[in-house]
Amino acid sequence: MAGGGFAEKFAKERREKSKLPERVLIFDTTLRDGEQTPGVSFTPAQKIRIAQQLDELKVDTIEAGFPIVSKGEKESVSEIASEGLEAEICGLSRCTDDDIKAALDCDVDCIHLFIATSDVHLKKKLNLTQEEALEQAVTSVEKAKDHGVIVEFSAEDATRTDLEYLKEIYQAVEEAGADRINVPDTIGVATPPAMQELVRELDSVMNIPISVHCHNDFGLAVSNSISAVEAGAEQIHVAVNGLGERAGNASLEEVVMTLRSLYNIKPRTNTKALVKTSSLVERATGIPVPPNKAIVGANAFAHEAGIHVHGVLKSPGTYEVLSPELVGHHRRITLGKHTGTKSVKKHLDDLGVKGTEKQLEEITNRIKGLGDKGKTVTDADLRAVAESVIGAMPEEEKAVEVKEATVTTGSTVTPTASIKLLVEGEERIGSATGVGPVDAAIKALRAVMNEISELNLKEYHLDAITGGSDALADVTVKLEDEDNNLYIAKGVRDDVVLASVEAMVSGINQYFAAKK
Ligand code: KIV
Ligand code: ZN
Repeated sequence: MAGGGFAEKFAKERREKSKLPERVLIFDTTLRDGEQTPGVSFTPAQKIRIAQQLDELKVDTIEAGFPIVSKGEKESVSEIASEGLEAEICGLSRCTDDDIKAALDCDVDCIHLFIATSDVHLKKKLNLTQEEALEQAVTSVEKAKDHGVIVEFSAEDATRTDLEYLKEIYQAVEEAGADRINVPDTIGVATPPAMQELVRELDSVMNIPISVHCHNDFGLAVSNSISAVEAGAEQIHVAVNGLGERAGNASLEEVVMTLRSLYNIKPRTNTKALVKTSSLVERATGIPVPPNKAIVGANAFAHEAGIHVHGVLKSPGTYEVLSPELVGHHRRITLGKHTGTKSVKKHLDDLGVKGTEKQLEEITNRIKGLGDKGKTVTDADLRAVAESVIGAMPEEEKAVEVKEATVTTGSTVTPTASIKLLVEGEERIGSATGVGPVDAAIKALRAVMNEISELNLKEYHLDAITGGSDALADVTVKLEDEDNNLYIAKGVRDDVVLASVEAMVSGINQYFAAKK
């Protein structure tokens, strides 16, 4: 059989045909565009900590901020620039003297100059002609270059700019000394083929590296950035967790891993630090990473369906395209309605709990039942369910079996319970009222079982396993017989009454067994 499936073969052929660069530089803008995320504002200490982490991640450039915006921002950018980090430290600047001075005051390695070039921005925002904007851009590049810094130039709203004018302004800034140009898809309107064509057009007239800055308004930021690389772009602007204005920027973790694993372009990035970086930024911003977020989300390497778990445990490549360790993540087998006995066994092995095949089946059925009711099953839930199933007497030795238990309760009705039992094969039905639903259920049990008149409930203990209103109820009862023998039994259910009945009946069965 021929090796390599369609996607792999296609990617390989495409790589061979495309103008792929050897390396793609990662320009991180978490501390600048990322901080423009609505509701996000870093303290200076957070900015420095994130910059240090980005350096540990080995991004090529850290855009530390926009120095002109405030005194605090300027101080933070200065401090980051003086940290002695390996990454190039960059400050954003409009094409004005004051902005350039503020960035230079911070002693940054690079100034990211920008001016809007689309008709709508020129007319409605800047009130400038194309010629005036071009002149400002050229003058600013020259001024910044006079101070010996690296200059990256962005034509803001490039994807909505007339192509001929765009080429003209980029060529003019190249001539003025810019070190690289950046192509922002400022409002995220490009599609992957459009981005590719635009970069190809620009590449045909430029001699300095081309970078792209894609926004995610249509969820295309990563695809657009990668398409640009296929056409020759050598740098991508990214933000950790895809932060940024509105729907954000291209996500750092997705870009890096796509380049590395699907395009065979190895960025300098230390991929093992991706999850740690994502979590740090998540904490600092207070913006939770969605569980289904690619690469760094809590579910990125989680498996639930029995078929998947079986496959992954046999050979991870069946359902994992990346090894979780490569990005600093870990594999997780989750429990729910899709769970199979293999997952349950794996979890129980990890918890050091052993059970028979039959018990394993019963535990799996109970876990599925909880999943059917919409509950997220945690390890603590599994342990409690397992303990109650494994700790219970084998089915065939049980004298008493609960067939049905129902309660009615409320502020205007007396709690009433009805119960149907099989006691040594004989069906018994009864009901009782009580001070609460649990009390009513236990009284209903007693009402149909004269045999337990001498069995006293010495202790009743209720625990909720894990928080939340859907927590499992874990009931432990201590029963004492006429000879002072103690029977301790447990019941774990998502319903406190059923858990209580289960615990009581489990204790009663021990009592019956002891009497034989
Ligand atoms: O989205 C954008 O156009 C920007 C520029 C400042 C590059 O963030
Ligand atoms: Zn932006």
